[in-house]
Amino acid sequence: MKIGIHHRKGSFSDRWIEYLEEKKIPYVILNAFDNDIIRQIKVNEVTHFMWHFNQNYFEDMLHAKSLFRSVNQIGVKTFPNEDAYWHFDDKVAQKYLLEALGVPLVKADVFYHKKEAEKYVENTSFPKVFKLKGGAGSINVKLVKTKSQARKIVKQAFGRGFDAFDSWAVFTDTIERFWRQKTKHNFLRIIKWGFKGIFVDKQYKVFPKQRNYVYFQEFIPNLTYDIRLIVIGDKCYYLKRNTRDNDFRASGSGMLEFAPGKFNLEAVNIAFKAARQLNMVCVAYDFIFDSKEQPLIVEISYGFQPYVYDRCLGFYDTALNWNESKVNLEYEIVHNFLNGF
Ligand SMILES: Nc1ncnc2c1ncn2[C@@H]1O[C@H](COP(=O)(O)OP(=O)(O)O)[C@@H](O)[C@H]1O
Ligand SMILES: [Mg+2]
Repeated sequence: MKIGIHHRKGSFSDRWIEYLEEKKIPYVILNAFDNDIIRQIKVNEVTHFMWHFNQNYFEDMLHAKSLFRSVNQIGVKTFPNEDAYWHFDDKVAQKYLLEALGVPLVKADVFYHKKEAEKYVENTSFPKVFKLKGGAGSINVKLVKTKSQARKIVKQAFGRGFDAFDSWAVFTDTIERFWRQKTKHNFLRIIKWGFKGIFVDKQYKVFPKQRNYVYFQEFIPNLTYDIRLIVIGDKCYYLKRNTRDNDFRASGSGMLEFAPGKFNLEAVNIAFKAARQLNMVCVAYDFIFDSKEQPLIVEISYGFQPYVYDRCLGFYDTALNWNESKVNLEYEIVHNFLNGF
């Protein structure tokens, strides 16, 4: 067994490397972007290739899937595996996948033709939630209160399209956070985002416009939080995220709670079951609860921000019992991946 790792500081690979060092498992650091990466994988006799590729880097999204798929073809196992990455950062793909698997999700409606979208808007009720298929931290998630707002969205979706990365939304969100938390870190982010949003923003400007599809979702009202459950192997980790003031969105608020409060544990059950159906070593779910406290999935993802979850206080086991423990998700990922999960 030899592990190839594409290393990026501040990603899962920091601790994957620590784990491999600790367990004395042979590994090699590779640069997935090297033109001769396939040759390097072969020469090094890599059996497992790991890359925490990230939706915020266009080059990652451009390249990771084809590289993974190609090395799969010669028997190299990858993290994430194909079942985990093909729908990564794609809420539209996830709609069909979760519907196919019969996993409970918030009802989502997607249209690829203007006429059908217009007809839908005339016949449906509002409010609805409008989303782009990609994005994190709620930046591409908006409440559509009226039919006329929805008409405008449809017009734009089938016209000039939407920026994949709404830097203005990130900027205003950071300001909101600064007023709430008044930290130096957030102040610096405002400066950075103010600058980036208005003048530079190169990293994000390369993403193509989002157009020729439109995604609306049933709006579940009166929520004050969502929960993130992360299933890795036979453990399920928990994080609660409160919504911003006067806002229905929790993701990206930074208002986190780690002690599992009261919630319908059926969510944990669904998370374990769906992880098996999805065939994913690691899957993070965002869950919200409807008026009858029934858990509904909002989105799924193989990857997420590292380090935040160090503050988790333990995990649920498959019998739905809570176990207090120290948490190191990166270790769990590499451990379960290498041990065939
Ligand atoms: N259909 C919905 N009804 C009510 N709240 C929602 C709905 N969809 C998303 N939200 C809220 O908005 C937040 C962001 O939505 P999500 O689809 O997870 O986008 P992101 O990828 O940006 O995290 C969620 O954390 C949740 O609080
Ligand atoms: Mg989310």
